[in-house]
Amino acid sequence: MTNTLTIRRPDDWHVHLRDGQMLKDVVDFTARQFGRAIIMPNLKPPVTTVEAGRAYRERIMAAVDPALDFTPLMTAYLTDGMDASEIERGHAEGVFTAAKLYPANATTNSSHGVTDVVKIHDTLETMQRIGMPLLIHGEVTDQHVDIFDREAVFIDQVLQELVQDFPGLKVVFEHITTKDAVDFVMESGPNIAATITPHHLDFNRNAIFQGGIRPHFYCLPIAKRELHRDALRKAATSGNAKFFLGTDTAPHVVAAKESACGCAGIFCAPHAMESYAKTFDEEKALDKLEGFASLFGPAFYGLPVNEGTMTLTRKDNTVPASITADGTEAIPFHAGETLAWSVN
Ligand code: DOR
Ligand code: ZN
Repeated sequence: MTNTLTIRRPDDWHVHLRDGQMLKDVVDFTARQFGRAIIMPNLKPPVTTVEAGRAYRERIMAAVDPALDFTPLMTAYLTDGMDASEIERGHAEGVFTAAKLYPANATTNSSHGVTDVVKIHDTLETMQRIGMPLLIHGEVTDQHVDIFDREAVFIDQVLQELVQDFPGLKVVFEHITTKDAVDFVMESGPNIAATITPHHLDFNRNAIFQGGIRPHFYCLPIAKRELHRDALRKAATSGNAKFFLGTDTAPHVVAAKESACGCAGIFCAPHAMESYAKTFDEEKALDKLEGFASLFGPAFYGLPVNEGTMTLTRKDNTVPASITADGTEAIPFHAGETLAWSVN
């Protein structure tokens, strides 16, 4: 039995750090575990300009504990009719690592998102030319489509065509939740990859309704049925370099979650690596964790792997029931549970 695992220091390829006091309260959870993180741009207002990206990066660096070795990788929020030259300049100046496609109104702070991919064709062409990755929230927003089908329908209605139209574009299909997405990524070329969250590996949609409505298990894309979770677990632990780590940690204060119209998002940063280790251990694939967490992401983004290491030890680790955030409290993923792994 493996009781200690030392891997290259991992990276998180999908993080919501927020802003202001919330940023100050949550950033170190990510910086403690990860060398780099791709920072989502869905602030209010969203990060749509090079100057906004640079300023947000400075606020992150001012908030993080200086003793931690952490680099935020910034993203631009794509909008209809956006000026492609702004994205190109941001990439050339080392501000934007990638750009994010939120279909308009798909999720939290996405009202300025893209209403039709045709409206960003110029930008996608530029990104393809300069080798800048496109990160996609892959759900259709048509309210007539069942919420559990929105990812699969997005593949059929949007993604297939996008990938055909831009065959050289690097695409990350973010936080995938379905077997359909796993199959799509596996069947696509090497420029198409996906991130997988710890929570979509850990529970299926029953958890949202277990004995009552459980807002802390609600995120978007919503967790699907067991066959999909099973496909995600197989993909993540397979050693296939197209699938890598992205937590989608998305903190909201308790009042925003426990509400008549609660926000989507799971605050998984505090015990992210312990949670992934749980899944890989259960799948008898701890030897595959390093690739997923530390090697495949940098390879896809064309970056070197981190210099340092992380050691995970089989040691009971109780997750707090709540964590101070934004002047009040947020509930972390696995709150109150005892996990079998600890990060040293
Ligand atoms: O659950 C989610 N929360 N999904 C998203 O796509 C956005 C995120 C957030 O920003 O809260
Ligand atoms: Zn997200």
